[in-house]
Amino acid sequence: MGLDQSWLFARWLVVVVMVATPKVVETFCPSMCQCDDSLLEASCSGSRLDSVPILLNPSLRSLHLAHNRIASLRQSVSFYGELRRLDLSHNVLHSLGLLHFQPLGQLEWLNVSNNLVSSLEMESFAGLASLTVLDLSANRLTRLTDDLFAELPSLVTLILSGNKIQTVASGAFESLRKLHTLRLEDNNLGHVPTAALVPLAAGLRSLHLGKNLIETLEDGAFRHLARLRLLALNDNAIDRVDPLAFDSLVSLDALDLSFNRLDGPIEAFTTVSPLTHLDLSGNMWRQLPANFLSGLPRLQTLNISYMEYLRSVDPAVFHMTRPVITNGSVVTISTSPKVLPIVNLIMTNNALWNHLPPGLFHGLDAHLVRLDLSGNAFETLEMGRHHYDWPHLNYLNVAYNPLECNCSLLWLWNMFQQRNHSPTIVVVNVTCSGPPPFSGLPLSSLEQSNLMCSLALPVSIIILLVMSWIVLTAGLIVLVIYWRRRQNLRRESRLMIIKSSHHHYHHRDHAFQHHNGTSPILGGVDGVKQQHYGVDSNCSPALSGHHHVGATIPHYYHHNHHLQQAQLATATTRDEYTYHCAGTIKRIPVTVV
Ligand SMILES: *[C@@H]1O[C@H](CO)[C@@H](O)[C@H](O)[C@H]1NC(C)=O
Ligand SMILES: *[C@@H]1O[C@H](CO)[C@@H](O)[C@H](O)[C@H]1NC(C)=O
Ligand SMILES: *[C@@H]1O[C@H](CO)[C@@H](O)[C@H](O)[C@H]1NC(C)=O
Ligand SMILES: *[C@@H]1O[C@H](CO)[C@@H](O)[C@H](O)[C@H]1NC(C)=O
Ligand SMILES: *[C@@H]1O[C@H](CO)[C@@H](O)[C@H](O)[C@H]1NC(C)=O
Repeated sequence: MGLDQSWLFARWLVVVVMVATPKVVETFCPSMCQCDDSLLEASCSGSRLDSVPILLNPSLRSLHLAHNRIASLRQSVSFYGELRRLDLSHNVLHSLGLLHFQPLGQLEWLNVSNNLVSSLEMESFAGLASLTVLDLSANRLTRLTDDLFAELPSLVTLILSGNKIQTVASGAFESLRKLHTLRLEDNNLGHVPTAALVPLAAGLRSLHLGKNLIETLEDGAFRHLARLRLLALNDNAIDRVDPLAFDSLVSLDALDLSFNRLDGPIEAFTTVSPLTHLDLSGNMWRQLPANFLSGLPRLQTLNISYMEYLRSVDPAVFHMTRPVITNGSVVTISTSPKVLPIVNLIMTNNALWNHLPPGLFHGLDAHLVRLDLSGNAFETLEMGRHHYDWPHLNYLNVAYNPLECNCSLLWLWNMFQQRNHSPTIVVVNVTCSGPPPFSGLPLSSLEQSNLMCSLALPVSIIILLVMSWIVLTAGLIVLVIYWRRRQNLRRESRLMIIKSSHHHYHHRDHAFQHHNGTSPILGGVDGVKQQHYGVDSNCSPALSGHHHVGATIPHYYHHNHHLQQAQLATATTRDEYTYHCAGTIKRIPVTVV
């Protein structure tokens, strides 16, 4: 008590001095501090102070004492009853003591972060009826006991991150009816402190439980938190999310599940349909199946990065299952696949993901504003037959992929050209990894011809040439065949069958010479010796009106074994052959004998 009495004496002294020479006191400011009497602010940060100075203007609204060596508060802070803001961060406080803040009924902001506080009592905060922000981060707290913050009815933001909190009594947050933000990240929590959160149901908007030791999210883990908009569960060891884990989070807008151990489908997504921001980075999925995120029809920002094992992504991963509309007993299934309305897609640093499915952005391109695909293992960014429009895209990053700068990247190359003309789109520079002449060069520095798309032109020309060559050759062959046939016809028409040994035919015209089957043309008809063929070497056919008969004549010579049959067929027609023979027209009647 002797110490306290001396403090009280010092205080009395200050008051006496103040009354005696008010002007001097008002402007009194120790050399290590900076004081602004008009703003009623004093800052003594980084001044090696061992205790809170007591000689400053007692009407101060704001006092900054960060980065000192203050180990104990004693009653010195109580001299400044007008304070709104008090910064005690980065000191060596082991405790906040009891009732030290009692006269600070106006204090709104108290920062005790980065001290050595290992335990708290409800009475530590007595009197802080106006306090809205309390920062106790980076201390040594291990447990939060019942009613700890019961004296802080106005508290809106409570920061307890960076402690070693393991247990949270179910009544720890009792009476914090106005609390919006609770930060409990970077502690030693083994599970979600469900029961302790229930009293916060009416106000809690933002809950940070990242960097803890949580392994499972059980059904109803966040029950009653109907106003919660942001839930951060990053950097835990979550490998199981029960189907109703997010039940009652009907206002949830942003969910951070990054750096956990998730590797399976998450049914619970279907219960948080208002979600617009989702971070699934750093989990263990090997592949992302079709309709992976259906149930999140309002998703706008999606981050799937740092997936160590991710190898494949289904092209329909961003599709929603066809919505089922039930109206009484009528069930309607929508036919067209709907796509999540993502505007900001971040899929970076997935070291094994080397294939971008060509249809992945189908439907997505209509609303994407930012697309980050940097740091994956893509050798190419094939868009296949898909033509994307990107009407709203203003940021595109595909850097740090081992890209082969060939024709498959023409669309990207075109974007760089567009970028040069309209600065509204930011396309992050891409460096080629190949082919060899271009490796290490920015894609944007290449000429279009470097991408070897120009090959497409010669190829079509080659195809054209080959085809016209084929057409020409075919035409030529047809011509030759036609010409030869004509020739044959001419030659053969000079031959006349003359009935001989078997007397099927009788030719009355004697202008024809008779030959045995020894004509060079008829060399093939050996063995039909009994027949005689007449040849008039000056005759050419003029088969007017009797084509069918004349046309069969060459046929005889080529297929002599059909001769008999054909002769009969011809003979029955009793036709006449008309020939030009040596300038005169000969009519050769053929009749059956
Ligand atoms: C409290 O002080 C620390 C250290 O200076 C700072 O990082 C933190 O942002 C402050 N807290 C608030 C709520 O401003
Ligand atoms: C994912 O992307 C969001 C939006 O850009 C960003 O805020 C977040 O930090 C990213 N997460 C990781 C793990 O990088
Ligand atoms: C349900 O069906 C009834 C009649 O079939 C119709 O009047 C009503 O508008 C429908 N409701 C919805 C939500 O489609
Ligand atoms: C470009 O290179 C990639 C990777 O080597 C290859 O898969 C792709 O087929 C190439 N594209 C063209 C048009 O040659
Ligand atoms: C991108 O590459 C081009 C071509 O080399 C260069 O002119 C430009 O400055 C680079 N931009 C950035 C942001 O690095």
